[in-house]
Amino acid sequence: MLNIAILISGRGSNMENILKSVKKNKIPVNPAVVISNKPDAKGLKIAQKLGVKTEIVESDGLKGGNWEYDSKLVSILEKYKVTPQNGLICLAGFMRILSPEFIKHYKGRILNIHPAILPSFPGLHSQKQALEYGVKYTGCTVHFVDEGIDTGPIILQSVVKVKDDDTEETLAKRILKQEHKIYPKAVKLFANGKIKIVGRKPILS
Ligand code: GRF
Repeated sequence: MLNIAILISGRGSNMENILKSVKKNKIPVNPAVVISNKPDAKGLKIAQKLGVKTEIVESDGLKGGNWEYDSKLVSILEKYKVTPQNGLICLAGFMRILSPEFIKHYKGRILNIHPAILPSFPGLHSQKQALEYGVKYTGCTVHFVDEGIDTGPIILQSVVKVKDDDTEETLAKRILKQEHKIYPKAVKLFANGKIKIVGRKPILS
């Protein structure tokens, strides 16, 4: 069975939701480990309560992108048998950029959730970016991770209408609801071998 690792840095609501959906919807994956780069990430306790092993690989204060740190992640992932052959890595609010070496190692096996309709509003504070731009619709995206920032092949997206009186918080809340719908769906598609990448386009079956 596919061994999945979920990488977090904070609250972990997407992580919690994926773990619960795996059980409820019988998604054929083994939730092997939750890894945080922040020792005080709230999601760690939630994962433990749900019976999933947790590990902390504390980050070095840099924004990321360095193999020195990422090789420590690989050691932990190997310990839990999350491998390039039978693993899936779900980034869920993991606030670090991964190095090209790490991405190459797990090519096609790293997913991320982003709170905007990519390629609009990549990077940080996407909800604020959307409000400031004045778009009428935004949403969220599950995509494969490649070497760029939020540039990998798009698997699923969900659209959210922006209200005139939205604040960053109210908009983020409605987007999060949609995130919780599409991330488990994408994991299920991957686990069932239903995603085929042609060029940079994932074809879903
Ligand atoms: C989510 O909005 C996700 O889209 C972004 O970081 C946030 C993580 O929230 N990448 P949570 O930790 O899953 O609650």
